[in-house]
Amino acid sequence: MKSLIKKFAQIPGPSGYENQIRAAVRAEVEPCANEVIVDALGNLIVRWGEKGPDGLRMMLSAHLDEIGVIATHVDKKGFVRFAGLGGVHPAYCVGGHVRFLNGTRGVISFEKESGLKKMPSLDKLFIDVGATSPGDCPVGVGDVAVFARKYQELGEKIVTKALDDRIGVVVLVEALRQLHEENLDSPHELYFVFSTQEEVGLRGAGTSAYHINPDLGLSVDVTSTGDTPKGSKMEVRLGEGPAIKVRDGGMLSDPRVVDWMVSTAEEHEIPCQLEILKGGTTDARAIQVTRAGVPVGCLSVPCRYVHSPSEMVDYGDVEDSVRLLVALLSDQVPQLEGEE
Ligand code: CO
Ligand code: ZN
Repeated sequence: MKSLIKKFAQIPGPSGYENQIRAAVRAEVEPCANEVIVDALGNLIVRWGEKGPDGLRMMLSAHLDEIGVIATHVDKKGFVRFAGLGGVHPAYCVGGHVRFLNGTRGVISFEKESGLKKMPSLDKLFIDVGATSPGDCPVGVGDVAVFARKYQELGEKIVTKALDDRIGVVVLVEALRQLHEENLDSPHELYFVFSTQEEVGLRGAGTSAYHINPDLGLSVDVTSTGDTPKGSKMEVRLGEGPAIKVRDGGMLSDPRVVDWMVSTAEEHEIPCQLEILKGGTTDARAIQVTRAGVPVGCLSVPCRYVHSPSEMVDYGDVEDSVRLLVALLSDQVPQLEGEE
């Protein structure tokens, strides 16, 4: 699984430009699939299994895209100004390396005038690609780039760019593979969705959820932690198992789905933690509010330094996330309808 994480994380796939990563994921999942669809927004939708009498039509989702930057202006000396594609923070940019989809590399710096004491805003930053004028600049307005950063293992921890959400993508691929290759029984008709444009507003999840019209939705994504020096007051820590989302900035998980996830983890003796995230949201929100509404939950992989070029997860948490997902998908879901 580590080699798959390394491979997927290194492939560039900023929001709206998911073609390369989609092709790589497709190659991995195609041998397991009953049906593969790529829709108009580029979502890769993989159907597996049949809906039995006690089964549901279930949508799983992990997003293909990663945050990136888009060139907005090239000045007289060839410096490139840019805007964020998704939530790009200046603190994580300065000194960083980027790679444009056309292969051009660059480094990010900032207007010295704004000083080092205060964090400059994104419009005070620029990318130096080694050009001297717009004429010899290999990058033009509208070109997009992602962070460039090597894959590293630090003990049990994995560090690289784009773990948000390539780690979720790997968890879905691995769960599908186990269900298929080990011939596990699932009462459900499962749709594994590798969604597009999550970082710019959950757009791919919205259209694919409309298309699939699921009885239940689960997304797999990263969540922040509160376990770094003077970190946010958040009860999620690396290495303590997958986090089951209770709420985030954009949605409340269906409490019945949360209970089902927690009791499945307990039954299978998989460590887990509860996630309450203040800001940010994920695909599950878009699934929840599609059509007439869908009960949803979310399995989160704890991740430090989310949206930085050096996102960090614990490998044990990734393995336990796969175990929990496989356990969830192999079992019946307790009655969700008929509350009182
Ligand atoms: Co994100
Ligand atoms: Zn994400």
